[in-house]
Amino acid sequence: MSFSNALNAAGVPGISSLSNAMHRHHKDMPDITPDTDGCYNCHPGPKTRCLRDTMSQNFALNCTTCHGTIDVVSQNPEPWLNEPNCGAVTCHGDSYKPDQPLYRLSKGHGGTYCAGCHDSPHAIAPSMEINDGIKFIELEGDTGTLRGCTICHASMPDRPFKHVN
Ligand code: HEC
Ligand code: HEC
Ligand code: HEC
Ligand code: HEC
Repeated sequence: MSFSNALNAAGVPGISSLSNAMHRHHKDMPDITPDTDGCYNCHPGPKTRCLRDTMSQNFALNCTTCHGTIDVVSQNPEPWLNEPNCGAVTCHGDSYKPDQPLYRLSKGHGGTYCAGCHDSPHAIAPSMEINDGIKFIELEGDTGTLRGCTICHASMPDRPFKHVN
């Protein structure tokens, strides 16, 4: 693919995108094991603790559960734009399908960003990092998903909560 989605710019014809080339070239190297430890050679790892959301902490999901192995990542036809999706059948299924390909751009409930209630990708509440939780603690007293109706509504809505679709 001769483009860079990261820069939204045309690439050099015949040359792979940086993501495809990087993952493909390194996938068979001995220290790049095909698991989370392998990813940590290059991506923010055990000290930075970017992998901190509820799915990794409470449900044992890791980089490869969501993204596939480095081999799979190396074949992404649209790096940066084609990413794991909450609505995948192996994940939460169709009733939780975001309205945009990328979670961070998607909105649910009355046009509210998913991330407004659930937090950013890789930090889905409750996160193990206390700093992620500060805003939720201030708003509702705990680090979980934002859910108290009157946090946002001036009075208690008289109709039921409509979530995603
Ligand atoms: C040898 C270093 C290296 C390893 C190992 C590595 N990555 Fe990457 N990865 C990169 C670089 C560099 C980029 C940025 C590419 C760009 O700027 O387009 C990247 C970008 C990405 C992206 C965003 C672009 C895309 O293709 O969607 C994802 C997702 C990703 N890596 C996932 C992983 C996962 C999951 C693993 C482990 C299974 C992994 N990477 C292992 C170096 C690596
Ligand atoms: C619970 C599922 C899940 C896990 C676990 C996960 N990711 Fe992601 N990752 C996503 C989603 C979803 C996106 C797309 C974010 C968006 O839509 O804005 C993403 C995006 C990315 C990107 C692109 C940059 C960005 O923020 O869009 C990189 C790089 C990446 N992940 C690397 C990793 C690495 C490395 C690990 C393990 C340390 C990992 N991910 C663990 C779901 C996950
Ligand atoms: C107004 C706040 C709000 C918005 C916006 C919102 N959600 Fe939710 N979501 C919730 C609440 C509350 C729950 C109930 C579970 C909880 O407490 O974590 C939930 C549950 C979920 C679950 C199920 C979690 C489980 O335990 O199985 C998924 C998946 C989900 N939401 C995805 C999304 C996606 C994708 C979007 C955007 C398209 C979105 N949500 C927008 C508040 C919201
Ligand atoms: C993160 C903020 C937030 C939370 C929490 C929240 N809402 Fe909302 N809600 C909104 C926004 C924004 C709208 C769209 C603007 C509006 O209609 O006021 C909306 C709209 C609505 C609507 C009208 C939707 C429609 O399709 O006509 C109802 C009903 C509603 N909310 C009920 C609830 C209930 C019940 C809860 C608690 C379980 C809740 N909301 C929690 C922000 C929130």
